[in-house]
Amino acid sequence: MLTAIWAQDENGLIGKKNHLPWRLPNDLKFFKETTENNVIVMGRKTFEGMGKRPLPNRQTIVLTSDEKYTASDSVIILHSLEEVLNFSKETEKTVFIAGGAQIYKQFEPYLDELLRTTIEATFTGDAHFPSFDYSKWKLVKTVQGIVDEKNIYPYKFETFIRV
Ligand SMILES: NC(=O)c1ccc[n+]([C@@H]2O[C@H](COP(=O)([O-])OP(=O)(O)OC[C@H]3O[C@@H](n4cnc5c(N)ncnc54)[C@H](OP(=O)(O)O)[C@@H]3O)[C@@H](O)[C@H]2O)c1
Repeated sequence: MLTAIWAQDENGLIGKKNHLPWRLPNDLKFFKETTENNVIVMGRKTFEGMGKRPLPNRQTIVLTSDEKYTASDSVIILHSLEEVLNFSKETEKTVFIAGGAQIYKQFEPYLDELLRTTIEATFTGDAHFPSFDYSKWKLVKTVQGIVDEKNIYPYKFETFIRV
């Protein structure tokens, strides 16, 4: 099962200088709880934005064209889409495509599910979620996020499956 997971603002913005443009701890919690004990795949730039530190309790796969790229022993480094697709066929775990923009775009044809957090505000930044054809996707679940003193923007969690 291949699932894309991301957070965007109202304009599809996802990143600023290799980091998230907002602070929304409840979305990080959602990401953590959803991906725990499964597999996350990310591009080399997103991985470096996280300080090359893999998140605990899940398998991290990093995609790079650099055959000499190294990271901590627990990280699997792969060099093509096909390698990730083969990995996902051989595991019973959910493989979460976790960004960034280049990675989401390339995996679109192979995704089974989308988990989108939309922050109902606008920010500035330099990375946008790629244009997906949402006529091919059906919204099956919407959960409104809780706004509080630490999560100050309205936001919602949506789940899409292929039509
Ligand atoms: N809001 C969110 O949910 C979210 C989630 C994740 C990331 N982001 C943001 O997204 C931005 C980064 O996105 P990005 O598009 O610039 O970079 P990216 O997708 O994170 O990484 C791109 C890199 O991945 C490698 N790569 C891509 N396709 C590959 C392939 N088919 N085979 C082998 N390697 C491949 C290349 O690395 P090499 O150059 O080493 O070959 C490429 O430069 C950041 O701002 C980050 O904060 C946001």
